[in-house]
Amino acid sequence: MTCQVSRELEQLVLQARPYSAHGNLASYIPALEKANPNHLSVAIFDLDGNCIYAGDYKQKFSLQSISKVLSLAYVLARIGEEEVFQRVGMEPTGDPFNSIAKLETVKPSKPLNPMINAGALVVTSLIPGTNPREQWDGFLAFVRTLTGNQKIDYSQELQESEFTTSYLNRALCFFMKQHGIIVGEVEEIMELYTKQCSIEMNCLELAQLGAVFANNGRNPVTGEQLIPVQIARICKTFMVTCGMYNASGEFAMKVGIPAKSGVSGGILGVIPNRCGIGVFSPALDEKGNSLAGWKLLELMNEKYNFSIF
Ligand code: DON
Repeated sequence: MTCQVSRELEQLVLQARPYSAHGNLASYIPALEKANPNHLSVAIFDLDGNCIYAGDYKQKFSLQSISKVLSLAYVLARIGEEEVFQRVGMEPTGDPFNSIAKLETVKPSKPLNPMINAGALVVTSLIPGTNPREQWDGFLAFVRTLTGNQKIDYSQELQESEFTTSYLNRALCFFMKQHGIIVGEVEEIMELYTKQCSIEMNCLELAQLGAVFANNGRNPVTGEQLIPVQIARICKTFMVTCGMYNASGEFAMKVGIPAKSGVSGGILGVIPNRCGIGVFSPALDEKGNSLAGWKLLELMNEKYNFSIF
């Protein structure tokens, strides 16, 4: 098992980094505006436990929407597909990630998929536990196991920043509570959701977590089955169809791997049966995807030919 800097990847980082100048930091969560827009990092973790990395690989960032894949895996494994898909659909949406529009027009009223905010809020509301503390501890323990790092935690500053400004996500929750899609206390769901979004790690840890999905739910280092095969498959499928929001079609065309982005500028990539990829660069395009991160994945695809299509 080796973990080392890659000259080839460094070259691609050099090529992709200038693209960050054309993007903007997410500003609707005030604490995210403190990021350095020029940061760019990448790591690849293969199924033999080897990793290569380049760029600002030590830089930590919050998962934001990448956490939606993890909460989905966690909840599906604990309460089952039937319970979950009664409340959230399986279809992509052409709308922005925080849109409320389809909740009113789609019948029966439920979020189209678990990768948009409305759907993820439903999934978070289903995290098992008798109180919020128990719910959070269980979920965090799961994320720690996936990354192989027991020190993984959330940023309190980011969590508070999002919690105090999340009017739209609260609106989504209240709408869904009115329609019986969400049960439970909105403030408790919001606290859990903003905590999961504020979990921090670096690109190496993100790549290692991706390798678990690439390895059909099995930890490539220990061999332990951390996520049931069928649930890892469901997660990867959502990543292809909905992982890059309303740019998922274009991303499938240009890069062609299951991936999930977050407004912090992180992107989780999974190449089935091959490796996990973690990318970070905080300047975003207008749809909320990392600009230089996306470009870097395109360049990597040209070089290593990893599209699954
Ligand atoms: O709920 C939110 O708006 C954020 N915590 C996460 C959104 C996000 O990452 C969308 N990504 N492109």
